[in-house]
Amino acid sequence: MKFFLDTAHLDHIREACRWGIVDGATTNPTLVSKTGREPRDLYAEICRIVPGPVSLECMATEADAIVAEAKQLATIAENVVVKIPVIREGLIAVKQLADLGIKTNVTVICSPLQALLAAKCGATYVSPFVGRWDMMGQVGMDMIRQIKTIFSNYGFATQILAASVRHPLHVLESALAGADVATIPMEVMQQLYLHPMSDVIIEQFNNDWAKVPGKP
Ligand code: E4P
Repeated sequence: MKFFLDTAHLDHIREACRWGIVDGATTNPTLVSKTGREPRDLYAEICRIVPGPVSLECMATEADAIVAEAKQLATIAENVVVKIPVIREGLIAVKQLADLGIKTNVTVICSPLQALLAAKCGATYVSPFVGRWDMMGQVGMDMIRQIKTIFSNYGFATQILAASVRHPLHVLESALAGADVATIPMEVMQQLYLHPMSDVIIEQFNNDWAKVPGKP
């Protein structure tokens, strides 16, 4: 399973990439707005640091304009994946971009049928927003499981990218459900390392090691 970092924060990207577990990154307009940076320079820096696909979001709303914006974004770096919201015009653009060999991530997926449409149009990734589903009183992970079933029923190559991840349980359940990727905020990425029992055991080992004579 691949881990993407869900942020536009350069320090966080540098830090998490150093840990060796980051396979890519996703950004969105909200995350970019938090940086206070001009997008194009920021995107270029992110693409330089991240050792894998980086999703950059298109803001146009008409198919032709989306395709034009996507082509521009794709010139930033070779690892750019163009993120396109799941609107009808967006899916028209996804189909054209697939024919041009430009990778796409269809985002803001809130139903398995939207994911099916995106896959039919040749999306590289679909991003179901599991945390947002949970917030609506639905089980976000059901969406991942249903999309997984649909994609395997018909042999779609489109990858399932679990998005809107809020806590480690989302990552665990995404892995169990067979999501190809989870895009994870920095604070959740940090939590993945932690378990209080590990701390207790390590402390015990350290204490016992202190009693061992003749250490180098
Ligand atoms: C995915 O690519 C999105 O950036 C992200 O996961 C957004 O989710 P949120 O706005 O619910 O945090």
